[in-house]
Amino acid sequence: MKFSIKSGNPEKQRGACLVLGVFEPRKLTDAAKAMDKLADGYISSILRGGDMEGKTGTTLILHNVPNTQCERILLVGLGKEKELGDKAYREAIRSAFKVLKGTGAADATLFLTDSPVTSRDIAWKISQTAILAMESIYRFDQLKSKTEEKKPRLRKVTLGVGNMERPGLATCEEALQQGLAIAEGMKLAKDLGNLAPNFCTPSYLAEQSVDLAKALKLKATVLEQKDMEKLGMGALLAVARGSRQPAKLIALEYWGRTEKEKPIVLVGKGITFDTGGISLKPAAEMDEMKYDMCGAASVLGTLTAVAKLGLPVNLVGIIPTTENMPGGNATKPGDVVTSMSGQTIEILNTDAEGRLILCDALTYAERYQPETIVDIATLTGACVIALGHVASGLLSNDDDLAEELLGAAGRAGDPAWRLPLWDEYQEQLKSNFADMANIGGRAAGTITAACFLSRFTKKYRWAHLDIAGTAWKSGKEKGATGRPVQLLTQFIIGRALKTSTG
Ligand code: BES
Ligand code: MN
Ligand code: ZN
Repeated sequence: MKFSIKSGNPEKQRGACLVLGVFEPRKLTDAAKAMDKLADGYISSILRGGDMEGKTGTTLILHNVPNTQCERILLVGLGKEKELGDKAYREAIRSAFKVLKGTGAADATLFLTDSPVTSRDIAWKISQTAILAMESIYRFDQLKSKTEEKKPRLRKVTLGVGNMERPGLATCEEALQQGLAIAEGMKLAKDLGNLAPNFCTPSYLAEQSVDLAKALKLKATVLEQKDMEKLGMGALLAVARGSRQPAKLIALEYWGRTEKEKPIVLVGKGITFDTGGISLKPAAEMDEMKYDMCGAASVLGTLTAVAKLGLPVNLVGIIPTTENMPGGNATKPGDVVTSMSGQTIEILNTDAEGRLILCDALTYAERYQPETIVDIATLTGACVIALGHVASGLLSNDDDLAEELLGAAGRAGDPAWRLPLWDEYQEQLKSNFADMANIGGRAAGTITAACFLSRFTKKYRWAHLDIAGTAWKSGKEKGATGRPVQLLTQFIIGRALKTSTG
């Protein structure tokens, strides 16, 4: 799908479909009013007939509207004008594309950016539109022998921005590029997440990372098991023991500024399948544990977006990746291992494996002297209980960093919610036989998991995103969401703005 920005009035638009907004009750937006005038009140007469109130997300298609030069007009409900916020705007865009996909229209021009959205600028509306449009056409049919649905005809999307001149248009253009880069990163994250776990193995992730590095001109390093043994990554290797697939540790480097400047490091959990190991998981829905590498996928997605945009930042992605399998050689509950940091860990539950691979990756990250480090992981079922499928969990040892991430999450429409990381919770990780246990009991499971990680991140500003509830959807709509690529890319865009303006 091709996107472009166009300044000018809706009246002159030719094409297959013009998309216009309607507020509740039956109130036309400025662009819709202009078209209504041109059509001698045709649109308002239809609304008067009761066909559309303007409720958020409702739609109505009109064909051959008099005096117009476009084949169709799609009216989209925006809800009450005063209440038009992020959620309603996104819902309206989503339903517009859902309908567009079903029509025969090959192109569409949207005039939806003229309605003010509370506390959001036009750049926000444009990048959100691009992200949501790309999301609406996403399908994963790599593994089907024939594709079921016919391809939507929609090829070309024009975003009408009213009469606007140079500096404003350049801002809009930049916003479009940001939205498209984020959408591309999300698509990569979704494709990797959705791919069956017999295909998406640690070796596959390593190959894909190397290919990606070539395409984006990044530096790639892949550590093999023997390299990790030399480094003393006893925690990561303990998880890999039960699997036939060799574990890998992938590092990708993007240097958008001088190498003297400390990078931001993203660390993503890359368990390509989590059976639980000897602490085996129940059978129901275990297939969804192929998504246990969505943290890793989000790191690759974010690197893609950032490199495509050529942002002036230094960014390193680190991905520890392995399967978590039971097997004759697998780690047993009660085993004690030594992490790369030298701290010893009593593995009381082999299903708490994410923190074991992350802790060694976090120690490995020290060699980059990170300015900030953020890890992303489908870490705890407890996070799904606490926050459901709406917000990712955020825990941090730095208040400013947490605020920065929450701001990016809000703008990106990829919400996160902070949980405390108080010392009181650390006690739950006490072990009689090692420096710490790898589990802290049922209470506050998301927090104790983060407490575990915090013992390996004392040297830097660090935040942890628990995406167990947000990285994929279950049920009929089963599929990866691409989250939190939006949040992370928005965060990096924010950093790039800061450095470029001094
Ligand atoms: N990958 C899981 C977390 C998970 C479970 C994410 C369900 C999404 C849905 C993780 O490795 C895990 O198994 N965590 C355990 C930790 C427990 C043993 C302390 C959990 O949450 O049950
Ligand atoms: Mn597990
Ligand atoms: Zn896991």
